[in-house]
Amino acid sequence: MKLISQYAQVMFTTLALFSVSATIQASDSIGDAGAGERKAALCSECHGDDGNSDNPDYPRLAGQYAGYIVKQVKDFKNGHRLGNDSVAVMLNYDEDIRDIGTYFSQQKMRGTVTKPNQALLASGETLYRQGNAKSGVYGCINCHGEKGKGMAENVTTFPVIGGQHRDYLVKQLKEFRQGTRTNDPGGMMTGVAKKMTDAEINAVAEYLSAQL
Ligand code: HEC
Ligand code: HEC
Repeated sequence: MKLISQYAQVMFTTLALFSVSATIQASDSIGDAGAGERKAALCSECHGDDGNSDNPDYPRLAGQYAGYIVKQVKDFKNGHRLGNDSVAVMLNYDEDIRDIGTYFSQQKMRGTVTKPNQALLASGETLYRQGNAKSGVYGCINCHGEKGKGMAENVTTFPVIGGQHRDYLVKQLKEFRQGTRTNDPGGMMTGVAKKMTDAEINAVAEYLSAQL
């Protein structure tokens, strides 16, 4: 009973955010991709020219929602999210963030996948799709979409996570779990990550990183 009401609460928050993000999106993700390509030179040293970094310390930005990129950059800039100080120094204008975000969102995610551990892929996929009813981990697919490729085009609250570097995914999930990353709206990710074991984090990251 308790579990069901927790699920209902999560769904309620999710639905509320769907409607909010649909309205935010129209104004904050429209940028100039051409200008963004030039400005993205500021980011390429770490994230790669087209947002496909090969180094797992730096997340892939190619194919990510512009609205999500804009939000994260603002979070870094305002100190709501730690780990990328360079953005605060380099970006002065909202327009730059929108242009760069739009440019990266239009690039195709590609690169090499760390050789997947077959034993973990299946359990990772099960957790991704179904969650863990016993411990109350809510299935990731409900918010991150099929294969982690996101929801509808104009819903940028829930990032694309399929095809992201495995080690980056593990790092973020552990940060949500231990409370060192707290910029998730409504604590949605913290609520999920707090219930996850190390084994579950490793398995789901293995599955997701193979969905390029
Ligand atoms: C000196 C290296 C460096 C540069 C330059 C840099 N970043 Fe990053 N960026 C990082 C690191 C490291 C992270 C991951 C932080 C973490 O582990 O939480 C990150 C994360 C991000 C994220 C979060 C992605 C996600 O999936 O949540 C966004 C968005 C981002 N950077 C945008 C930019 C943009 C836009 C620029 C250029 C204006 C830029 N970064 C320049 C190092 C850099
Ligand atoms: C109730 C909705 C919801 C569920 C369920 C959910 N997530 Fe999330 N997740 C989010 C939101 C919202 C964000 C964006 C947080 C932000 O704005 O910084 C996010 C962010 C993330 C990130 C960080 C991505 C990045 O690029 O920085 C990872 C990794 C992630 N989720 C993995 C998962 C996994 C794995 C599961 C399932 C075990 C899951 N999520 C279940 C809503 C959810």
